[in-house]
Amino acid sequence: MSDALSKRQDYGSLSLEEGALLPDPLEQLTLWVKEADEAEIYEPNAMVLSTLDPDGEPSSRTVLLRGIDEHGLYFYTDYGSRKGLALLANPAVSVVFPWYRQHRQVIVYGHATPTNPEVSDAYFQTRPRGSQIGAWASDQSRPIDSRDLLEAKVQEMEARFAGDDAIPRPESWGGFLIEPQRMEFWAGRTSRLHDRISFQRDAEGWSVTRLQP
Ligand SMILES: Cc1cc2nc3c(=O)[nH]c(=O)nc-3n(C[C@H](O)[C@H](O)[C@H](O)COP(=O)(O)O)c2cc1C
Repeated sequence: MSDALSKRQDYGSLSLEEGALLPDPLEQLTLWVKEADEAEIYEPNAMVLSTLDPDGEPSSRTVLLRGIDEHGLYFYTDYGSRKGLALLANPAVSVVFPWYRQHRQVIVYGHATPTNPEVSDAYFQTRPRGSQIGAWASDQSRPIDSRDLLEAKVQEMEARFAGDDAIPRPESWGGFLIEPQRMEFWAGRTSRLHDRISFQRDAEGWSVTRLQP
């Protein structure tokens, strides 16, 4: 086995007490993303999103968290991509934020539905022009014969929108809102006795449970 596969890190003593977490897990997640950013974690808002294809096959990939509010988590993608089609057929998701350097992890379980078009339009307009062109040029997750063909599609879109100040959002591109049902906050402790605090949505708000490591 390579050295990398047999490493054992001893995690610190940073504890996670139920009472030390904010009562709203979405606010706690916001705080941990901010703390990951302050700790100069690369892409502190990166999350691994898992979905189920219509035939039941699971798939995972990284996406960036682009918004968070009392409703849930927002990310943006191509609705025709593998994940887009999977979610339109089955909204069940799980999401992992892996902040290894901070010995922290958050897992979110919930349902993802497309955001309303105004939310997608507003976010699309904040993107750099190159990314907007890219969204028009790329049918995400579909095969293409060569990089040259992709670059030709980019040039075609640049010509199409040349002289336009604002590029409209392609209809096939937009946001998803993940509404969490359950969120787990994990903090690494010594001797693998990690802290795991789970928030489950209920009629009153959230119920909090400690899980064994
Ligand atoms: C750090 C990082 C951030 C990414 N952010 C996004 C994103 O916000 N939206 C997106 O559609 N793809 C994003 N991607 C690309 C996806 O991981 C994936 O390759 C792409 O969305 C196609 O996934 P699919 O075929 O499973 O739909 C990101 C990749 C990385 C490594």
